[in-house]
Amino acid sequence: MKTLLYVDCCIRREQSRTRLLAEAFLKNLPEGWRVETVTLMDEPLLPLMEGGFLQRDELLTRGDLHHRRFDYAWQFQKADAILIAAPFYDLSIPALLKVYIENVSVDGITFLCDEKGLRGACRAGSMTFLTSRGGFYDGSPEEMGSRYMEAMCTFFGTGVYRCVAADGVDMDPAKTPAILADACERAAQAAQML
Ligand SMILES: Cc1cc2nc3c(=O)[nH]c(=O)nc-3n(C[C@H](O)[C@H](O)[C@H](O)COP(=O)(O)O)c2cc1C
Repeated sequence: MKTLLYVDCCIRREQSRTRLLAEAFLKNLPEGWRVETVTLMDEPLLPLMEGGFLQRDELLTRGDLHHRRFDYAWQFQKADAILIAAPFYDLSIPALLKVYIENVSVDGITFLCDEKGLRGACRAGSMTFLTSRGGFYDGSPEEMGSRYMEAMCTFFGTGVYRCVAADGVDMDPAKTPAILADACERAAQAAQML
């Protein structure tokens, strides 16, 4: 059995359109996959600052990589595939997802930095990013959500990067259902590529 780590950052939960894409993806998983979900809205995640920053530094200096604060990083490192769902906020990803990324970015767990250079250390063969955006940003230089996640995929060494986006969901309410239906179809296809 392979493990798909599903990072749920659909902040509006049941109201979230991004969540529809995630549901379509998860419903279409090929045989042989189990899902491990981390719902970021329910996690005690903190940004790097003050005592938490110092504690992390001390643990890394001592080489103590098995402290419980690194559990998110080990879970991420061990997954066979990564699925992340998050809406588009302020031209990028929500701060909550960025805080999670701060927590999983640990030298010696998810990436390595030594005399051989900087390289990813994750096992996953792919990272799929699902998102929905109020406006139309496909290919735009102002789109810094998916582009950032693609860079993080390279950083972590999480294999192939795929993004499925529902663009323009807040522009014309009459067109939103069709936009979402199309994106859900593409999310279902992305699941088959695992
Ligand atoms: C705080 C916030 C920031 C947003 N920033 C942008 C933005 O920069 N560009 C854009 O096109 N839409 C923006 N939106 C609209 C969302 O991307 C859009 O409504 C998305 O579908 C929300 O996803 P959800 O339904 O999963 O919550 C923003 C919405 C919120 C709440």
